[in-house]
Parts: sequence; C-alpha cells; structure tokens
Amino acid sequence: MIKNTVLAAALLCSALPAVATDDYTIELYEIYCSACHGVGVSGAPTAFSDEWRDRVNQGMDTLVSHAINGIGNMPAMGTCVECTEDDIRDIIQYMAKEK
Ligand code: HEC
Repeated sequence: MIKNTVLAAALLCSALPAVATDDYTIELYEIYCSACHGVGVSGAPTAFSDEWRDRVNQGMDTLVSHAINGIGNMPAMGTCVECTEDDIRDIIQYMAKEK
C-alpha cells in the first residue's frame, strides 16, 4: 500500500517536473548512489554538477539503460537490488539536476 502511494507520487512528479523530488527517491539515492556519485568516485559524474550535461544529452532512455545494465565502472542497477526502472529514472533525474 505504501509502495503504491510512493509509486503514485513518483508518477505525479515525473508528470510535473517542477515538483520537488519525493523522499523515497532521495532515500534510494543516499543509500545506493551517493557513495560514488556524491563525490565522483572512479570517474562517476558528480551529483548536482555540470558533469551530467553531456550525459543527459545522450537522452534519458540511454542513461536509464546504462544505469540498469552498467557501464564502465558503473555497476548494473548501481547496486540497488530493490530499484525498479522507474526508481532508477527518478534518481537520475534527481542527481543530474544542477544545483
Ligand atoms: C560503485 C560506484 C557507483 C555506484 C554505487 C553507482 N554508480 Fe553510477 N556511475 C559510476 C561510474 C564510475 C560512472 C561512469 C561510467 C562511465 O561512463 O564509464 C557512472 C555513471 C552513471 C550514469 C551515466 C551513464 C551514462 O550513460 O553516461 C548514470 C545514469 C548512473 N551512473 C546512475 C547511477 C544510479 C541511479 C545509481 C544508484 C542506484 C548509481 N549510478 C550508483 C559509479 C557508480
């Protein structure tokens, strides 16, 4: 039930990009992705920086598929075993935003 609510919130967020990222996405980012993307470990693009610009230009679908399948030193699913494809997409949208 909680999961459904979170999913609905995530869908709502992707439909309305101006809405702040939901807590579940931020939590997943903190647990699974920030270890590498928070500081740019072994060539990982640093979250919330312009290092994402060229990558975002590849298109969101390409980024999502690279994150799911892994690329270079980026492990498949970013080690997030519980993430769905939509979760991965939400996290990328969150951390690829420049602050
Ligand atoms: C063990 C370190 C590590 C973890 C954990 C990690 N990443 Fe990465 N990630 C990388 C590295 C290194 C790259 C750069 C890969 C390259 O381009 O060679 C990368 C690149 C990416 C890219 C860009 C792919 C592209 O096509 O340019 C995306 C998107 C991404 N990561 C998403 C995530 C998400 C989402 C998570 C958490 C669920 C995550 N990563 C967790 C190391 C990590």
